Amino acid sequence: MDSPRRIGSISINLFYLFLLLSSNLLTLFISTTFYSSSSLNPTRNIAMIIDAANATQLPLDTANFKGTSDISPEFLAFTSPKQLPFGMNSNFDSDKLYPPVGKACTLFPNELNRYMSYKVNESCPDDELLAQKLLLKGCEPLPRRRCRPAAPPEYVEPHPIPESFWSTPSDSSVVWTAYTCKNYSCLISRKHNQKGFDDCKDCFDLGGREKARWTESKSRGSIDFGIDEVLKVKKHGTIRIGLDIGGGVGTFAVRMRERNITIITTSMNLNGPFNSFIASRGVVPMYISISQRLPFFDNTLDIVHSMHVLSNWLPTTLMHFLFFDIYRVLRPGGLFWLDHFFCKGEQLEEVYIPLLESIGFNKVKWVVGRKLDRGIELQEIYLSALLEKPLTNSW
Ligand SMILES: *[C@@H]1O[C@H](CO)[C@@H](O)[C@H](O)[C@H]1NC(C)=O
Ligand SMILES: *[C@@H]1O[C@H](CO)[C@@H](O)[C@H](O)[C@H]1NC(C)=O
Ligand SMILES: *[C@@H]1O[C@H](CO)[C@@H](O)[C@H](O)[C@H]1NC(C)=O
Ligand SMILES: *[C@@H]1O[C@H](CO)[C@@H](O)[C@H](O)[C@H]1NC(C)=O
Repeated sequence: MDSPRRIGSISINLFYLFLLLSSNLLTLFISTTFYSSSSLNPTRNIAMIIDAANATQLPLDTANFKGTSDISPEFLAFTSPKQLPFGMNSNFDSDKLYPPVGKACTLFPNELNRYMSYKVNESCPDDELLAQKLLLKGCEPLPRRRCRPAAPPEYVEPHPIPESFWSTPSDSSVVWTAYTCKNYSCLISRKHNQKGFDDCKDCFDLGGREKARWTESKSRGSIDFGIDEVLKVKKHGTIRIGLDIGGGVGTFAVRMRERNITIITTSMNLNGPFNSFIASRGVVPMYISISQRLPFFDNTLDIVHSMHVLSNWLPTTLMHFLFFDIYRVLRPGGLFWLDHFFCKGEQLEEVYIPLLESIGFNKVKWVVGRKLDRGIELQEIYLSALLEKPLTNSW
């Protein structure tokens, strides 16, 4: 009997790959084998699908699929197993490489085919919006493409450090096609001019509210913790590297950088060039969604911060996986700063406190406050918490 441990993560990646590739030859096989009985014994089905793939010699040559496939040849070219030039590699325990691509890609063949239809070796289409939609639907990571991405015709290089931290970059450093605004002055003023919801509407204004974030030491019991107050929890200098999940324009990373701490900021580009802007400031943006497994090894980061993103708009199961993933990447003694988590009052008691408490963190700070920006009648509340992965016996 195969155990899940034995099958291991490589096989699970393979399994997803094969699911993807299955759109042609294996569709019938998988739809009858996997979907019908996956809940009974998933492990066994992984093995069966790999066997089947081996037996049918999966698409090494996309030409075989012409006429039978509605999937773009470039997608098949990217996802098909690649023979390693020197044969069997004991690290991979395989003689082939299988590019990881989200299982959901083939669920959206129209978008996928539009994304993967381009001239090989030439310029890519200017299709950031399409790419991001596909990614947010779960096709993550997106497949690689063999073309050059859209870039501004007259790119202007960033300001030097430290000027770059707090300067608005040149409009010519961004491809604006995907956004309503077509320059930074529009983004900076949109909190006054633009109606409707936009992610982080006022945060491109570095002289505004952004400037003061996490710097002031507020009264005890405030949900606005200050960075220095948080860092004081640990021995000086032991918080060195970390991650800010959904970090807007990267101000948290900039503030930490000023304290010689290296923070990577994950962000999407929801109606604004967040990744370009973060990079222009001189800190590292990472373009991954909230669904993606964090690309760090276990027990490595000193701190994970997240403000406003982790909240009740996320499916609870996704949040459960995410909290465990944060726990996984934090080193023992590492800090998880859950900043302005929001939900309804009763949800906090019934759902989120039990969920958070089940992960295994120690509570260092825990402050609940009212959230009034959308009206008191919504009964929304904020939780700001500073949690620590236990230094000993964290496993
Ligand atoms: C695939 O086939 C090869 C030889 O045909 C065999 O050695 C190998 O064990 C098979 N792999 C799997 C996963 O069944
Ligand atoms: C792209 O460039 C590579 C390397 O020169 C070449 O082998 C390949 O045939 C080119 N493909 C197309 C479609 O032009
Ligand atoms: C910025 O864009 C707005 C419209 O989005 C336009 O009215 C304005 O003139 C532009 N400003 C600059 C400096 O290009
Ligand atoms: C950051 O590091 C530099 C160079 O090592 C040092 O001069 C500076 O004082 C440090 N800043 C802080 C806030 O620790």
